[in-house]
Amino acid sequence: MATGTDRQLGGATDAPLVDRQRRVIDYLRVSVTDRCNYRCTYCLPDDGVSHVDRADILSFEEIAGIVGCFARLGVSRVRLTGGEPTVRRDLVDLVRMLRAIPGIRDIALSTNGHLLSELATPLRESGVNRLNVSIDSLDAEKFAAITRRGELHRVLAGLDAARAAGFSRIKLNTVAVKGFNDDEIGALCRFAWSRDMVPRFIEQMPMAGGQLYVPGALMSAAQIRAAVERAHPGQSLVPDTAGAARGAGPARYWTLSSDPTAVVGIISPMTEHFCDTCNRVRLSASGALHTCLAYDDAVDLRALWRSAGPDGVIAAIRQAVASKRDGHVFDLVGIGGPRKAMIQIGG
Ligand code: GTP
Ligand code: 5AD
Ligand code: SF4
Repeated sequence: MATGTDRQLGGATDAPLVDRQRRVIDYLRVSVTDRCNYRCTYCLPDDGVSHVDRADILSFEEIAGIVGCFARLGVSRVRLTGGEPTVRRDLVDLVRMLRAIPGIRDIALSTNGHLLSELATPLRESGVNRLNVSIDSLDAEKFAAITRRGELHRVLAGLDAARAAGFSRIKLNTVAVKGFNDDEIGALCRFAWSRDMVPRFIEQMPMAGGQLYVPGALMSAAQIRAAVERAHPGQSLVPDTAGAARGAGPARYWTLSSDPTAVVGIISPMTEHFCDTCNRVRLSASGALHTCLAYDDAVDLRALWRSAGPDGVIAAIRQAVASKRDGHVFDLVGIGGPRKAMIQIGG
């Protein structure tokens, strides 16, 4: 029964999700597949990863049912991730089902953009309202090298299609790698700004037991900011006070001192971490609830959904969030991150 302190926001009928540090969890990342059509070098090992059996992947009905449980706990934002979410067949049907859940008011998608030419319009029409697209280089050969099979021209066409479909303020995610794309920071900013997009640079996290981490390749947030400033002589970066580009994730936003519309986001788990403001948890493609990206700890919500239904799932979510890790220790490379690769959790 609802109590006086319960929220009645949207579909929420239970008390909100709050952890030990009083962090309120209202953002759920849902991985819809652990497969991908690219093989980014920082995301999965050369020899691949073991994939979940197809039979163990949550059905759309199960995903919607479990998201409904989160919505009852005050979660209002969902981000679809992978692997690569667009390789999941009929993804738009899932989007429609999520849209129909009371309380879900934001459906976002993180994609490599390879299939956007075909999917941007259907995704938009089915209810995706925000898009983040990875792009690690504007040079076709370098792009192919870091993605180990990606085609830059397809991603560029996909971005055009996404704009034409009505997506605005698309965020471009670049994992900043010293000696690889550090000379493209300015060009990536200009590329984004000329298309009303938001460039974002990410510090690489040592997932997969640190095996994909190249010592010395980390570009820190401070070095990223310095590179943006070097590319724009006479300008400095100042904190973005307008906040128009803000999503709900961990990026911090800056603008050129002379141009408040030239916004750049930086995601800095390694050198300027953001765990104290964490507002999110993640559901894996097989229904495992990870309350922190940086640990392998997970609760099998799929089994609970099947055996105990919504009440069992809601109780398990509450319990897992109550013991959410305070923060990561990614800086202990190889010891302080998950054994799982990014492709298996979805970021
Ligand atoms: P917005 O809502 O638009 O801000 O999205 P987002 O930045 O949360 O999502 P996106 O999928 O674009 O993720 C960008 C980067 O942030 C990826 O490298 C993610 O792995 C990373 N990221 C997202 N959430 C977390 C988190 O809770 N912890 C850590 N360490 N990294 C995260
Ligand atoms: N460190 C940081 N970001 C990563 N991504 C994938 N692997 C890593 C990593 N090891 C990013 C992708 C994508 C987002 C969902 O996660 O570039 O933009
Ligand atoms: Fe949250 Fe864990 Fe990411 Fe830190 S590492 S921001 S606690 S999910």
